[in-house]
Amino acid sequence: MIHLAFKHDIAFTGDFQGAADADRRAVETFGEVLAGSGRPLVIASGTLGLTPGRVATERDGRDPGPAPAHLPAGPLTRLATAQMTLALASRGVRSSVVRLPPTVHGDGDNGFMAALVGIARDKGVSGYVGDGSNRWPAVHRLDAAHLFRLALEKAPAGSALHAVADEGVPIRAIAEVIGRHLTLPVASIAPADAAGHFAWLGGFIAVDSPAASTLTRELLSWQPVQPGLIDDLDKGHYFRGPSA
Ligand SMILES: NC(=O)c1ccc[n+]([C@@H]2O[C@H](COP(=O)([O-])OP(=O)(O)OC[C@H]3O[C@@H](n4cnc5c(N)ncnc54)[C@H](OP(=O)(O)O)[C@@H]3O)[C@@H](O)[C@H]2O)c1
Repeated sequence: MIHLAFKHDIAFTGDFQGAADADRRAVETFGEVLAGSGRPLVIASGTLGLTPGRVATERDGRDPGPAPAHLPAGPLTRLATAQMTLALASRGVRSSVVRLPPTVHGDGDNGFMAALVGIARDKGVSGYVGDGSNRWPAVHRLDAAHLFRLALEKAPAGSALHAVADEGVPIRAIAEVIGRHLTLPVASIAPADAAGHFAWLGGFIAVDSPAASTLTRELLSWQPVQPGLIDDLDKGHYFRGPSA
């Protein structure tokens, strides 16, 4: 089975911990049901904040250890749920974790990129924090979907996989494309003002969190074929709307 559900409705309105706790209980239940069956369990996780300041690989974040000090409690619970999923390999579950970049992009996306476009419209400025050189990885939703299918079909038990096409796109480059399409100024937002300007994205927008997918590509012969983030933004579908 593939588990993609998450209570984003409560997670992004103040109760991320409650959503992460519910998710953990759900995965524990799946593990109990699938134990000893050899059947696949694929869950979604994230690359964001895995190894700030350096390129994260599939080998990072696999094993429970001292809690990484930079992660808040809710994301820590999600990390622990992913580690628990990988450990189900020793209980006869062909478990795998697909780590998604914050920017899973494409027509119809209502995630991080759509939120950034909405914030730029509301504020009348397309912002980034500091010099905007911090990087986020990215993947097109169709390439990510293909990887989930490959994981379900043939990922070895206990595989951590990275659905990463662009290893690291500077946030400033994203802000510039958004500003160009919305005909808005592009400006640096002071770190102290990030929470006010970017709302729930304020806690993430300044994180430098690139990620690689070399091992995933080798393991499953996965090859992203869709447009990269900047080319996809340039296609214009994010900017259809009242003020576009
Ligand atoms: N960490 C990252 O950077 C990152 C980035 C992208 C995605 N992800 C993860 O990838 C997964 C999929 O993301 P997405 O963008 O596709 O999320 P989404 O659009 O919010 O979809 C989540 C789905 O979960 C369902 N759901 C929520 N609560 C449920 C419940 N109690 N019982 C059954 N279903 C429930 C929702 O159903 P309804 O529509 O009926 O409410 C919705 O269809 C999530 O786990 C997400 O957190 C992580």
